[in-house]
Amino acid sequence: MKVLIATEKPFAPAAVEGIKKELLEAGHEVALLEKYTDNAQLLDAVKDADAMIVRSDKVTPAVLDAAKQLKVVVRAGAGYDSIDTAYAKEKNVVVENTPGQNSNAVAELVFGMLVSAVRNFYNGKAGTELMGKKLGILAFGNVGRNVARIAKGFGMDVYAYDAFCPADVIEAAGVHAVKTQDELFQVSDIVSLHIPATPETIKSIDYRTVNQMPKKGILVNTARKEVINEEELLKLMGEREDLKFVTDIKPDADEEFSKFEGRYFSTPKKMGAQTAEANTNAGIAAAKQINSFFATGDTKFQVNK
Ligand code: 3PG
Repeated sequence: MKVLIATEKPFAPAAVEGIKKELLEAGHEVALLEKYTDNAQLLDAVKDADAMIVRSDKVTPAVLDAAKQLKVVVRAGAGYDSIDTAYAKEKNVVVENTPGQNSNAVAELVFGMLVSAVRNFYNGKAGTELMGKKLGILAFGNVGRNVARIAKGFGMDVYAYDAFCPADVIEAAGVHAVKTQDELFQVSDIVSLHIPATPETIKSIDYRTVNQMPKKGILVNTARKEVINEEELLKLMGEREDLKFVTDIKPDADEEFSKFEGRYFSTPKKMGAQTAEANTNAGIAAAKQINSFFATGDTKFQVNK
């Protein structure tokens, strides 16, 4: 079978080697398309692919139509909002993800950005510490759990809300489970977002929600830009000079947010999962899933059933 690795944002070279080794040993052929700048390159590369490994690459109906032989797409990562899963299902293409494989990397970046934010982005003025601050984790999935683990090392008081995860699971991790998303924003000095982008969550982080945060609140986003109502957050930051917003996903309104000097930071390109370890874990997991899909029909990680 021919497996295409299509990554606009390339994996670390060691990860690519590992993925290739895994696939070649199983008898597959491997093609690599990295740093493509035009969708036409992707449309051309998928023409004869039986399987595909992607990151946040957009797998649109046009891509799925061009990929006449495609049977399985594995998103090396967690979020699959960049893939038209319903259309893939219509075309009998299995879509899978590799949950948990890059979550530590994303969680570590939360703290990289947070230390920088509480130290005033290293402008020389006295900042604050994370120890003793209340951290609210919105969604207690793989990333949220890693954030909680690291936060405890910083001596933070950790809270979480998850609409789907039972409170006793949260409490068992040594984290205070709150009953509502509103309560999480009300109690937390810092809120870290780990919700997926779904019809329910898109634009859900709005003026009213964030305005519940105590004075000097910090909002951290390593999830998806779509979950934030940018227009409303801009309005709120204009009104509340105490709020900071740090994000790993450049908002559409980056230019407007940049006007809040000293209160806003965005990585230039999404960097949460961009470590050699995360790339290797997620990439090799994707390769193994493809191997077992073709060997035994295994679809354990299918997300478009
Ligand atoms: C994910 O959903 O796994 C993360 O957002 C990482 O995305 P990336 O592979 O595009 O960096």
